[in-house]
Amino acid sequence: MKILVTGGLGFIGSHAVVELLDDDYEVVVIDNLYNSSIDVIDNIKKITGKEFSFYQNDVCDLDALEKIFSEHKIDAVMHFAGYKAVGESVEKPILYYENNLLSTLHLCKKMIEHCCFKLIFSSSATVYGNPKVLPITEDCKVGSTTNPYGTTKWMNEKILKDITVANSNFTVIVLRYFNPIGAHKSGLIGEKPNGIPNNLMPYIVRVATGELEMLNIFGNDYDTPDGTGVRDYIHVVDLAKGHLKALEKAISSRGIYYYNLGTGIGYSVLDLVDNFEKVNHVKVPYRIIGRREGDIASCYADPSRAYKELDWKAELGLEDMMKDSYNFILKQKKG
Ligand code: WQD
Repeated sequence: MKILVTGGLGFIGSHAVVELLDDDYEVVVIDNLYNSSIDVIDNIKKITGKEFSFYQNDVCDLDALEKIFSEHKIDAVMHFAGYKAVGESVEKPILYYENNLLSTLHLCKKMIEHCCFKLIFSSSATVYGNPKVLPITEDCKVGSTTNPYGTTKWMNEKILKDITVANSNFTVIVLRYFNPIGAHKSGLIGEKPNGIPNNLMPYIVRVATGELEMLNIFGNDYDTPDGTGVRDYIHVVDLAKGHLKALEKAISSRGIYYYNLGTGIGYSVLDLVDNFEKVNHVKVPYRIIGRREGDIASCYADPSRAYKELDWKAELGLEDMMKDSYNFILKQKKG
């Protein structure tokens, strides 16, 4: 089977490409390199020993999509491509709505034109907004999103629902990620955001290497065990494997399905700092500052539906996430 992976050189997309190639799928990647790098291609080949087709294009570009679907018989699509920085989305809403919605609309248009009816969509726990109930199940209320990035994920879910209603043979598996961190054990692929990281884990690793002076912890006055924010961190390799299980579900199903991809365990900011220091024998200096606008106290998944229906559950623990994140950044620095 041949799978088109949009954003396949990005953090999560590249890990999914590795798992697909390891499972003997044929892979075609489209990526505009906005938030990824061309050397990921060679690193994926080093890890898997396999080749794949690559198109340096934007998923919004209908001609580029037409070329791909004309040159390849695509059986299914994993759609990762999209802008994902919460803070940036607040400053540039037009950019986020245009890119994240148009890319999905154009992709689905070309899929249907070329009789490709299986889509795995990269959604996010941000569609739940500030959860009233914990742990979060897929039946919890969605749509009370607090930033344009999260709203584009919620809108995409509604668009895809409408497409499955209008096209009974179109199948969508919506995967709501919690907080993906970590890196492939090889240290060849991982999370490498451009500029100063917005997210916690890439920031911690850069403080540990001395590239950044200290971690600013955004508030310790939340209603959580130690006052700092609690999230459900999931190893990116577990997340990638979840996509292959979702692909199997898509092939044997019709309609639209929603799954939380999380571990079901919440860890605080201080839990991560402590674990990172212990596992990697390194110090992460920090200071507590004020809360970050839009942050919520706690967010963690009830992942039981994915376990029951996809035969998937996260296998890797916090220690693996801490070790693999640091190993990646050290490998990158060595060059
Ligand atoms: C985690 C915790 C912060 C940075 C966002 C998106 C989500 C997904 C992951 C794309 C919070 C605290 C953080 C720092 C800190 N992105 N923190 N100092 O906000 O849970 O989720 O990124 O898919 O969709 O919403 O992740 O890593 O930014 O924050 O104290 O320098 O770490 O307050 O409690 P978040 P995060």
